[in-house]
Amino acid sequence: MTRRTTVIAIDGPAASGKSSTAQMVAERLGFLHIDSGSLYRAATAAILRSDHDPSAWTEESVLAAAAPVELRTARTSCYPTLAGKAIEDEIRGHDVTRNVSRVAQMPRIREWVNAKVRAAAESANVVVDGRDMGTVVFPDADLKIFLIADSRERAARRLRQRGTPTSEQLLDDETIRIRERDERDAKQTVPAPDAITIDTTALSQSEQVDQIVALSKDRV
Ligand code: CDP
Repeated sequence: MTRRTTVIAIDGPAASGKSSTAQMVAERLGFLHIDSGSLYRAATAAILRSDHDPSAWTEESVLAAAAPVELRTARTSCYPTLAGKAIEDEIRGHDVTRNVSRVAQMPRIREWVNAKVRAAAESANVVVDGRDMGTVVFPDADLKIFLIADSRERAARRLRQRGTPTSEQLLDDETIRIRERDERDAKQTVPAPDAITIDTTALSQSEQVDQIVALSKDRV
């Protein structure tokens, strides 16, 4: 069946500003924002609740743990719930961030996330963000953006987002963690051939939002 809604796909590596940018673009356009990473994180939080030994996780056990995860809609954004409860703080915690890439390697978990994201895009115009939105999930997206930024700048943004006081040591540590996650996620973090790459290292949040909104006016 052909899709009748508009899809703007924003992909890119860890902490490149995809989610906050996608949310602002969605608000400007009156679209719904779907953060596919939040579903990988929710599945990881679910399995962590039931089994704290990641080396024993299987696709079956993660899928079973993730069964009570739902994607709820609130105005222009979506958020995952687990057994009916919002889990925002839990999915942004260190434990989930450390283990999410392992869960994201599981093909059946990727299918589970992709089905939920596609279902949400059936009845609304959407801005979706992740790693493979413009390649695997919506190869026919109306506009595809790939956001990149220098890894140290991404680390600084993550620390600011957490409200943590920054020191050179903390910045070095976070840069290493971000580069490690880049490596683990490299396979699914590839720009679509027709994606427009925007390097946000020297851009402010509002500049990158303005650029994407302007591109969407041309394309959508
Ligand atoms: O922290 P960041 O914004 O980079 O990540 P996220 O979007 O919250 O995604 C968390 C993790 O989910 C990533 O590190 C990937 O392992 C995985 N992910 C993925 O594999 N494919 C997606 N479309 C989105 C996220």
